[in-house]
Amino acid sequence: MLSLPLLCQGALAADSSGIKVEHLGTNNTLVRVEGDSRYLMIPVQEAYDDATVNVVVDGKLERTVYVRLAKSKVDYAVPFDLSPYKGKNVVLNIVTTQSRSTVREASEDACWSNFALADSISTANVEKYRPAYHHTPLYGWMNDPNGMFYKDGEWHLYYQWNPYGSKWQNMTWGHSSSSDLINWTSHPAAIEPNGLGSVFSGSSTIDTENSAGFGKDAVVAMYTSAGASQVQSLAWSTDNGETFNIYGGNPVLTLDSEARDPNMFWNPDTKLWTLVLAHALDHEMLIFTSPDMKEWTLQSSFGKGEGAQGGVWECPDLFELPVDGGQNKKWVLICNINPGGPFGGSSIQYFTGDFDGKNFKADTDASGKVPTKWLDYGKDNYALVSWSDAPQGRRTVIGWMSNWQYAAEVPSKQFRSANTLPRDMYLFTGDDGQIYAATEPSPEMLNLRDKLTLSKPNISVGKKATTLSLPDHNGGICEILMDIEAPKSGSVYITLGNKAGEEVVMTYSPDSATIAFDRRHSGIVDFSQDFPAVTTAPILKSGKMLSLRIFVDRSSIELFADGGRSTMTNLVFPTQPYSTLSINTSAGKAKVKNLKIYSIKTK
Ligand code: FRU
Repeated sequence: MLSLPLLCQGALAADSSGIKVEHLGTNNTLVRVEGDSRYLMIPVQEAYDDATVNVVVDGKLERTVYVRLAKSKVDYAVPFDLSPYKGKNVVLNIVTTQSRSTVREASEDACWSNFALADSISTANVEKYRPAYHHTPLYGWMNDPNGMFYKDGEWHLYYQWNPYGSKWQNMTWGHSSSSDLINWTSHPAAIEPNGLGSVFSGSSTIDTENSAGFGKDAVVAMYTSAGASQVQSLAWSTDNGETFNIYGGNPVLTLDSEARDPNMFWNPDTKLWTLVLAHALDHEMLIFTSPDMKEWTLQSSFGKGEGAQGGVWECPDLFELPVDGGQNKKWVLICNINPGGPFGGSSIQYFTGDFDGKNFKADTDASGKVPTKWLDYGKDNYALVSWSDAPQGRRTVIGWMSNWQYAAEVPSKQFRSANTLPRDMYLFTGDDGQIYAATEPSPEMLNLRDKLTLSKPNISVGKKATTLSLPDHNGGICEILMDIEAPKSGSVYITLGNKAGEEVVMTYSPDSATIAFDRRHSGIVDFSQDFPAVTTAPILKSGKMLSLRIFVDRSSIELFADGGRSTMTNLVFPTQPYSTLSINTSAGKAKVKNLKIYSIKTK
């Protein structure tokens, strides 16, 4: 019997009878599975390298997965679903990478006695830092959201998923859906690693005219097959994205250098499918067109020498939006870069400009240069892309709420990483005449509000802090709103604190037109030297007024200033929930108006 901390708790009732282990060499072991149990529980130790697990069914190699098999202790177990192989002979032919000098030494690894069988698993949350109202995978590792589409009243969200551990590996499209952008239902894996490699990020679209020949209204996904090289592949679904068929003619697009994360959309002006592909190491986005999603013609490239060049360019998106809600429209090219963000690591860069169906031409500033624009000035919003076919012309986006610098080290195990709140994007003209993208919480986020736990129409604060209570139920999760009128000279500090003396300090400095977010003393910060940080966002207007909307979840804070014109998304790991909100100034008096705190509803 296994009694270990598990990703999936059902294995507490797991049984190791029915498992036969045979050591064949210092790094090769056979695990034979007998009987008809639903799951094989595989023991993991994150500190070790991946072992290659070849799943052989009735003598044929069915698939290969990579798992960090436990060597000295088991961190948790992951379930491998045996149901497709019911009644068949299942043998795992495992190749490990640790150096062992004798078979006996290899046989002492902790994993061998901890393989087990189980008929059910429970994915009930066991973790303190799992968000209460942000999307997370039920278990395992998640990075980029991708392939999202809206159809028949449902928002479909796919994500880069490792079902066999809480570090990056075995890239699979995980799938969740929601009718309200708040409550997410988890579905079985949508696209799994196949003959051309693992399944990296991509996009999905609805083929209303059946131009690809997969059926009218088929959901067509394009993703990067990542094997020895990166090539682009198609898959289609005729059951609203629940299951996908891999296109037999894959790959549909190949290049002789690293290219990934295809983002495909229908351009009604040219009546062609249009594709933006990240030419990752070349720091450019390639633009292709096609009549049928299968034959692609390269039209142009954008990016060489423009904006922040960073490490790699990834996860593009391209769409048109009205400027200032009027008739004038501009195109937005999203270009996620890693590393090279303003505060280190991953970040979302974007360009505004014009697109004639073939070429993207970026807007320039007064000096004729293409300015660098960032969508979020926190450290934890990456790989942001939009839903295709969103209703009412909305451009609804979501990001991965982490940073490649430390995503694999954050203090959670059962799940690793959440998504940001869904946000709607709009364009506005800044005081400098430039066009900028703003992201505000999607209107559905108003439905998160539960009780108004505090309401102060008008308070005056000085150097001495005014301290108020945050809601105490549900771990302190809440939404905070306020309008601040800063003193004539001086800054305003907004501090979230807890009983352990941990705090997050947000500083509004009208003189420098910035708002800063200091998480250096926010709780657990020592798992990575890149985590403790102060991030600073520009306020894109002059004056001394700022309106703030702040969402606090168990391990994240999202700050939206002036209707999303400045945003900061930052992870935090307080050892106890933040319980107080303090406001004070560096000098003089500030007015805080319309201060409201709502507790948040959870299921
Ligand atoms: C971005 C990224 C993508 C790639 C995916 C792999 O975070 O590197 O470029 O498709 O992650 O999981």
